[in-house]
Amino acid sequence: MKTNFDNRVAIVTGAGGGLGREHALALAARGAKVVVNDLGGARDGTGGSASAAEAVVAEIEAAGGEALANGASVTDPVAVHAMIDAAMARWGRVDILVNNAGVLRDRTFAKMELEDFRFVVDVHLMGAVNCTKAVWEIMRQQNYGRIVMTTSSSGLYGNFGQSNYGAAKMALVGLMQTLSIEGAKNDIRVNCLAPTAHTRMTEDLGAALPLEALGPELVTPGLLHLVSEAAPSRVILAAGAGGFERAYVTLTQGAFITGDDAPEQVAGRFAEISDRTNEIVPDMGAAQGMIELTKAQKAHGA
Ligand code: NAI
Repeated sequence: MKTNFDNRVAIVTGAGGGLGREHALALAARGAKVVVNDLGGARDGTGGSASAAEAVVAEIEAAGGEALANGASVTDPVAVHAMIDAAMARWGRVDILVNNAGVLRDRTFAKMELEDFRFVVDVHLMGAVNCTKAVWEIMRQQNYGRIVMTTSSSGLYGNFGQSNYGAAKMALVGLMQTLSIEGAKNDIRVNCLAPTAHTRMTEDLGAALPLEALGPELVTPGLLHLVSEAAPSRVILAAGAGGFERAYVTLTQGAFITGDDAPEQVAGRFAEISDRTNEIVPDMGAAQGMIELTKAQKAHGA
């Protein structure tokens, strides 16, 4: 069945270009009414203009879709609220939020100014928090919501020169983990997308493939699934160049170790602690404690 977004209202942040633009165009093409948000600044977050968002709205309208341009910075909770109010005034609901806006201020940690760390965390993490907070109660009342956080392989696995960006991106995974648990009873599904694409953000990276092979539109099918009625929840979906993968935060079975020589045992049995046989993906944080208690009970013959 074709993934369809008729009568759905979607907000896509940072949708003036790159991945966000593709997400917004695809959602609109499949029936969603879309708020196209973009601050319209430079790659490092300086400057701003609503024209990038307006251009995407014009494209959507030219194709027969419905959209609203918004130039708010996701870092400004007041402006974000006004954006949500505008969507509610025009369409009366918000079904989908794609937290996609982002900036880069790359430097090694040794050379990084704290201000550049804070700024990047503010845009990626607090930007997503501001937007999510502004739609959360609406989605709870509707008993329906689909939210995506745009994470990154730099957060999941690290990348030289991106301590600020990687920390912010991994923080979004933590946010997703808890929100998917808290949102479940109101059918609010929260997921992470880890894209790879040739965009303004990655234009400095040499590509082994022709740039078309890394087009941002190749990521969007994954995003559409994560915000569809049939969406999963609590998923980290990686996507790029036509490849789709899932990333997991796992826990090994580990070992039970106590006693005076526990530090030496932790060292000596590190391979056993690290062994990935029968590792699990805990369904909530408490699972770690449960596994540890079970091991302790077993060891104490309980
Ligand atoms: P991009 O630079 O083309 O898009 C980011 C957009 O966010 C820009 O249009 C920018 O004006 C907007 N933006 C920046 N600060 C904003 C703010 N405070 N409020 C509202 N809008 C703001 O880059 P791209 O690649 O399309 O990035 C989209 C998302 O995907 C970002 O979150 C990025 O970190 C993430 N990402 C991209 C990867 C890639 O390979 N391109 C890899 C991993 C993650």
